[in-house]
Amino acid sequence: MKIVICRRPDQATFLAAHVMTDVLGRDRQKAVLGLATGRTMEAIYAHLIERFRAGMLDFSRCTTFNLDEYVGIPPEDRHSYRYYMNKHLFSHVNIDVTRTHVPDGMAPDLDHAAKLYDQAINEAGTMDLQLLGIGENGHIGFNEPYSSLASRTRVVTLDPHTREQNSGLFDDGTQQVPTRAVTMGVGTILQARRTLLVATGSAKADIVASAIEGPVTASVTASALQLHPDCLVLLDEHAAHKLTRRDYIEQMRHHDPEIIHLLAQLG
Ligand code: GLP
Repeated sequence: MKIVICRRPDQATFLAAHVMTDVLGRDRQKAVLGLATGRTMEAIYAHLIERFRAGMLDFSRCTTFNLDEYVGIPPEDRHSYRYYMNKHLFSHVNIDVTRTHVPDGMAPDLDHAAKLYDQAINEAGTMDLQLLGIGENGHIGFNEPYSSLASRTRVVTLDPHTREQNSGLFDDGTQQVPTRAVTMGVGTILQARRTLLVATGSAKADIVASAIEGPVTASVTASALQLHPDCLVLLDEHAAHKLTRRDYIEQMRHHDPEIIHLLAQLG
């Protein structure tokens, strides 16, 4: 795991956009991106749109798979993650919408649709890069505590803490947040060639420390990233402030060629 701590949150999200740009530029023909939702991601998508407008990015041939979707919320509803993706990224860039995938939370047979989602990921050759945020309970995607670390895309029950955390986006608060969701499994996520976890803000400090320095446990599904052979973590100072091995992270900053190159992007 490589960890980069930025002074400001906008620097962490800027670097995340840079890493994604690199993947898209490397193999435009068949780049497969795993995408995420949440407040942290909005800034990353804004940077990507800026880069697209500046002619630095071409999405025309890439394929995307989103992590998750609420059950029972149709795609045109502004609370759905499909709506989120259209609003924050897809409608602003030259992506072919038919190559964008978000789990179907309205499918008559949710279990079958979830299986097909994993199949489609495999057929596309799996994600070159999976972008990830982290919930305050340590979830990646909607892999709530007790999710098997080998889990595949499936229907899950949402943790009350998650429903509360996400309630700000619903008019009537927590009551309106669905109780179930479809999410890529932890095992599906770990299949990506590279994983990129981005977290900012002090509300994430404790859980970031547990995920990175704590034991690998289904109680904090982000800790499974410790098992991923190529995981990059981008944090701001606030999200990083409970990490205890700062001297080692500092050492990486000065000696890891990839991190040196990355930080040079901040000018
Ligand atoms: C939701 C998503 C997660 C995301 C989390 C963090 O719960 N399902 O994939 O990581 O939000 O969101 P935020 O960036 O708003 O803290």
